[in-house]
Amino acid sequence: MGCLQAKDKEPEPPPPKEPEAKKVDPRLPFESYRQLFNMKNSWKAVGRTLTQTAKECLMRLFKAHPEYQKMHKNLAKYDDLDKLMESTAFENASLDVFNLFDEVMETSDKVDMHIATLQRAGKAHAKIPNFTANYFRDMEQPFMESVKLALGDRFTEATEKNFSLLFNYVVEQMLIGYNQAGGAPAPDSNRV
Ligand code: HEM
Repeated sequence: MGCLQAKDKEPEPPPPKEPEAKKVDPRLPFESYRQLFNMKNSWKAVGRTLTQTAKECLMRLFKAHPEYQKMHKNLAKYDDLDKLMESTAFENASLDVFNLFDEVMETSDKVDMHIATLQRAGKAHAKIPNFTANYFRDMEQPFMESVKLALGDRFTEATEKNFSLLFNYVVEQMLIGYNQAGGAPAPDSNRV
């Protein structure tokens, strides 16, 4: 009996510890770690054809808005789009854009680092003659179409939503730097 009682009093083993839920920085547009994880995986897949996808995106932007090509001083001289596509200057300009997204994904747990980069990039646009704030969002459709091409079947509805969230997050941060540097507002905005 005594023995049994002693056994009854044995302390319960502590419950197995819950693995600490990984947190997402609330400044990011992703609500759960799972969503961020999926986004990072999709980006990794885009990364396999980063240069090609970046060029596809910028080419689509220029086809939709030919005047934007002229605003890039290194690209203005190309009248032939095939020659432009083959040029190093075009590759570099394309990668400027996609490397920014890449940095955001690479530093998704060090948000302060990429926020500074994004705001700096936004600020650089404030100096571009004739650029207005609304131009940033003209990149959304080319961006979405180029990643869709890169991902094929993997571009699901959820993936599309994540890329749209990522794009808008990047633009919002760029706009902060752009506005702080006195960039021209959208023509229809009421900002003074
Ligand atoms: C989400 C959208 C965009 C991103 C992420 C982006 C990113 C960048 C980056 C990282 C640079 C290099 C900045 C630097 O030198 O410090 C740049 C330069 C530039 N961007 Fe954008 N950009 C975007 C949209 C646009 C749009 C819509 C235009 C349309 C005109 C544009 C025009 C330019 C021009 C003209 C330059 C300067 C190129 C030169 O040196 O001549 N950008 N952009």
